[in-house]
Amino acid sequence: MGFEHIGINLGKSSEGALCPHGVARGDKCEECMVEAAKSRPVWRTVKKLQRESKFSRQSPDSPSGEIEINGDKFKIEAIERSDSPELTEVQGLFERTFGKEEVDSEEILRAAVEGKTPFGTKDGVVYKVFVVKNAEGKVVSTVTGGSLDLYDEQNKPTGKKMFMVAYAVTDKECRQGGLAREAYTSAIMDSAIDAESDGKELAFAAGEFTYTSENFWNKVGWSRSYMENPEDPKKYEEVKYVQPALDFDEDTGLPAEGSGEAPEHLMIDSFGQQPPSKIDVMQTVRAFYRWNNIWPQEAFKDNPAAYQAHLDYNNKIADEFEGDLNNNGQLIFLTKEARERARGKGLLFREYAAADHGQAGKEDF
Ligand SMILES: CC(C)(COP(=O)(O)OP(=O)(O)OC[C@H]1O[C@@H](n2cnc3c(N)ncnc32)[C@H](O)[C@@H]1OP(=O)(O)O)[C@@H](O)C(=O)NCCC(=O)NCCS
Ligand SMILES: [Zn+2]
Repeated sequence: MGFEHIGINLGKSSEGALCPHGVARGDKCEECMVEAAKSRPVWRTVKKLQRESKFSRQSPDSPSGEIEINGDKFKIEAIERSDSPELTEVQGLFERTFGKEEVDSEEILRAAVEGKTPFGTKDGVVYKVFVVKNAEGKVVSTVTGGSLDLYDEQNKPTGKKMFMVAYAVTDKECRQGGLAREAYTSAIMDSAIDAESDGKELAFAAGEFTYTSENFWNKVGWSRSYMENPEDPKKYEEVKYVQPALDFDEDTGLPAEGSGEAPEHLMIDSFGQQPPSKIDVMQTVRAFYRWNNIWPQEAFKDNPAAYQAHLDYNNKIADEFEGDLNNNGQLIFLTKEARERARGKGLLFREYAAADHGQAGKEDF
């Protein structure tokens, strides 16, 4: 993208062999990818996030670079090397926030950044880690996740991708200053540009969360999903998303002792497009499972029966979720505020209280 590229390519150029930035057609040109991504709905979301940001961004077309607020400067970076020292800081943020026993080890984090599973096999999805560093170079906020392909019923990629957020964490001292929002903006810019370079479109961002961060996700455009009651169109029930186990017994393929399913709140943004359909939601959930919960065949060594039991276990959870969607009416997507407004108009909501692990408030019905 710099002059080297132009210099090298101009010498051997024939008409039409180069893109307007001087990169040989067929080679990846970052600027062309940015231009292509800009024609997509996701870019309207990027522009909106940037327009409403409290920070000024030095390079608004680039996921990394400097951001500034009232003279305070921060740097956003994508961590691409699995031996980056920043990953130790990111791991520290995770452990301080969620507890050491709740998060994967630093070794697994580093392997994931390299695009490898804990079993050493190639993952197909690279774990993206975006960090915000303060003027002293300390990591004060991070957003992590992966760009996942969506697959249709025949198990073929649809050409659409979804950015799944794994974690968003800001250092306790620096919260509510807009840092996670900036890291998130960078994450979807990067993911949108990446999708273009694969000839695909970033159609959604999504994740599974506890209730504590709903306000934050609402602010960046995400909402929870509610199913209309087939008998009473005034009643809506939140979708019952279940995260399958994360640890499995290699001999049986089933959840390891002490590991099991966890109900969570599913949240999605469709970047100002039509709200996601039931099919979009299903493809999103199956993409989560494919990346996070389904282990590669290699994990079950020479035990095809265990691998099959493992696939069956995960599929059953997905099928149950799908059945529930199909047994209910239309899906609507609402922020916390939008639910309050809808209540004012007489709608009733039942939240997915199981995902709140005993902390939920009272229900409407
Ligand atoms: C959720 C979290 C990452 C937000 O980080 P942050 O840097 O404080 O978020 P930002 O300052 O960028 O917030 C963006 C917007 O959301 C709002 N927001 C953030 N946290 C909020 C909260 N707890 N309550 C209400 N609003 C909140 C901010 O006020 C801001 O609103 P504005 O755009 O109108 O100014 C941070 O609170 C955190 O680390 N929490 C613990 C870990 C966690 O639960 N992560 C999420 C699931 S993995
Ligand atoms: Zn170009």
